[in-house]
Amino acid sequence: MLNRFSLNLSLTAAALVIISACTTTTQATLDKQVGLKEAYAGKFLIGATMNGTMVANNNDPKTKIVKQHFNAATMDNAFKWERFNPEPGIYSLDAPHNFAKFTNDNNITAIGHVLFWHSQTPDWVFKDAQGNLLSRDALLQRMRERAQFMARHFGDQIKIWDVVNEAIEDDGSWRKSLYNQIIGDDFIEQAFIIANEELPAGSTKIYNDYGMTRPGRVATVIKMVNDFKARGVPIDAIGVQGHWSMDEPTIADIDSNLSALAATGLPLHVTELDIDYLGREHFFSANVDLKKLVATPENNPYPDGNFPTDADIKLGKRYADIFNLFLKHHQNIDRVTFWGVTDADSWLNGWPVAGRTNYPLLFNSDASPKAALQMVIDVGLQH
Ligand code: XIL
Repeated sequence: MLNRFSLNLSLTAAALVIISACTTTTQATLDKQVGLKEAYAGKFLIGATMNGTMVANNNDPKTKIVKQHFNAATMDNAFKWERFNPEPGIYSLDAPHNFAKFTNDNNITAIGHVLFWHSQTPDWVFKDAQGNLLSRDALLQRMRERAQFMARHFGDQIKIWDVVNEAIEDDGSWRKSLYNQIIGDDFIEQAFIIANEELPAGSTKIYNDYGMTRPGRVATVIKMVNDFKARGVPIDAIGVQGHWSMDEPTIADIDSNLSALAATGLPLHVTELDIDYLGREHFFSANVDLKKLVATPENNPYPDGNFPTDADIKLGKRYADIFNLFLKHHQNIDRVTFWGVTDADSWLNGWPVAGRTNYPLLFNSDASPKAALQMVIDVGLQH
């Protein structure tokens, strides 16, 4: 039975627990912080892109962040044809296998990126032994073998695939990639048919692209998806990359874009979210083929890695607006994945301006959380 003295002690202890729970600054409370995945539980999965170093080392600080905050993961490069299978018969499977094991051990949904993309694909894929372009049938066979390989080696663990990436231009025309030139305008359709036949039954097959708010591209994506559905071509989801800037696209544009895409009836995956804090200079795109710009003091204002607090809050505000919008559409959104874990891993340090130090993600380069992280978590917790 509690006497008055021990009751007082218990109350004091309880008060201390409450006070310490309200203090967000100590390392212990940071470790116990509600993760992004908990803040958005029941709404959509929250993912991040990992690299070979992260999946090879359970104690890497960034790997620990993934375990704490994310319940979906994508490899940034390891499954791309160029990395995965750089030459005929040569495969680089360490990082892919580490990724499959890591996601399996930690109950994280694994996403395969990407089966067929015009970029980061070696030349040999499109050529025969004499260096001549393949026939349509020969290229389709090569694509089928790649899908079969993925199914054989990773079919148990990877059940969501970006099947085709970036095959539609800003103006809505088919990208004239070697896939398109050799196979023809039904390249995307053929890719989905192959993926459907070769990947395990029930796999989610995504068409993924950037610049989805561009009227030409979104019109073609919607037309294509509706056509595929009408003719029974198997496609399961639309991937909206989400490589956005501080002011582009506007929330209103993203809002109407998500509504238009969701009206196809397919679920949406936000596959590659990052906010280019420093801006895109004179172009707005995520086209990896564009010529890179040069870093200057104007476009590279924080080269030493010190991101000022007011900038961090501005970034957090932009992310908060975007996540409020995602929550509005949560019934149509299955997943939101960040393209990277910390700023150090971001591709935006090298694109579209070479050698710039950019600050697009929710964790600083040293793996410490930004103010923006808590702002995004708070948006989730308020719903
Ligand atoms: C990027 C990687 O993050 C970089 O490491 C690589 O050098 C280039 O590709 N759209 C995509 C991703 O679909 O595959 C790209 O990833 C970023 C743009």
